[in-house]
Amino acid sequence: MRSVAEATARELFAPLGPTYDRYARLLSFGQDPRWRRFLVSRVPSSALKVLDVATGTAAVAIELARTVPERTVAGVDQSPEMLAAGRARVERAGLGGRIELREGRAESLPFADGEFDALTFTYLLRYVDDPLATMRELARVVRPGGVIAMLEFDVPRGVWRPLWELYVRVGLPLAGAIVSPGWREVGGFLGPSIRSFHARVSLEDLWREAGIADVHARRLSLGGGVVVWGVRA
Ligand SMILES: C[S@@+](CC[C@H](N)C(=O)[O-])C[C@H]1O[C@@H](n2cnc3c(N)ncnc32)[C@H](O)[C@@H]1O
Repeated sequence: MRSVAEATARELFAPLGPTYDRYARLLSFGQDPRWRRFLVSRVPSSALKVLDVATGTAAVAIELARTVPERTVAGVDQSPEMLAAGRARVERAGLGGRIELREGRAESLPFADGEFDALTFTYLLRYVDDPLATMRELARVVRPGGVIAMLEFDVPRGVWRPLWELYVRVGLPLAGAIVSPGWREVGGFLGPSIRSFHARVSLEDLWREAGIADVHARRLSLGGGVVVWGVRA
């Protein structure tokens, strides 16, 4: 049976594939691509076989392949609609020979233990029922010593918090509603989802508990995004 988190994520992303890249950039004030580049810079160029989970339209997978020409990238996502947009984008980028996208769930990855040199994931943990079990599953497919890195939205602190609240309570739902019904859903969903996730989960603690060592976090763009990275113990 599907969990509430899985059903929510499937319904939320099903209509977004074709417009995801354009509006994700717009609604994050153009910060999204910069955050992804920083995420990818955490992965050493010696990692030649990399898995990108919740790959969506393959933005991170493409960046991973572009930065190291000898690298192959596998991308996994549970949404066939997002993957369809991702496959078209990979073809347009001429990277079909080095990036393979397939349907799958982060909670039970279709890969052997230690199969990858490194693993990335973006905007995933808010959509799973059990973040710790999912982190353990992600770590399972990375070889000991391999880097794991993630990107997530964060809640800015201090004087920036009220501005962020205004944006996610008013600006984002309004902007989403102007774009399409699908984006209206996202506009209303994101603020509460980001707020409640960070209220109940400490990312660094979660990562350590999942068996990841040398954990670092860098908050970006006044705390609107966070990149966490570490090494599979
Ligand atoms: C906000 S999008 C991010 C896509 C991409 N990583 C990016 O940076 O643009 C979140 C993605 O996570 C996927 N997703 C959510 N829950 C998942 C799960 N349990 N397993 C695999 N993919 C999942 C969704 O289908 C969606 O494509």
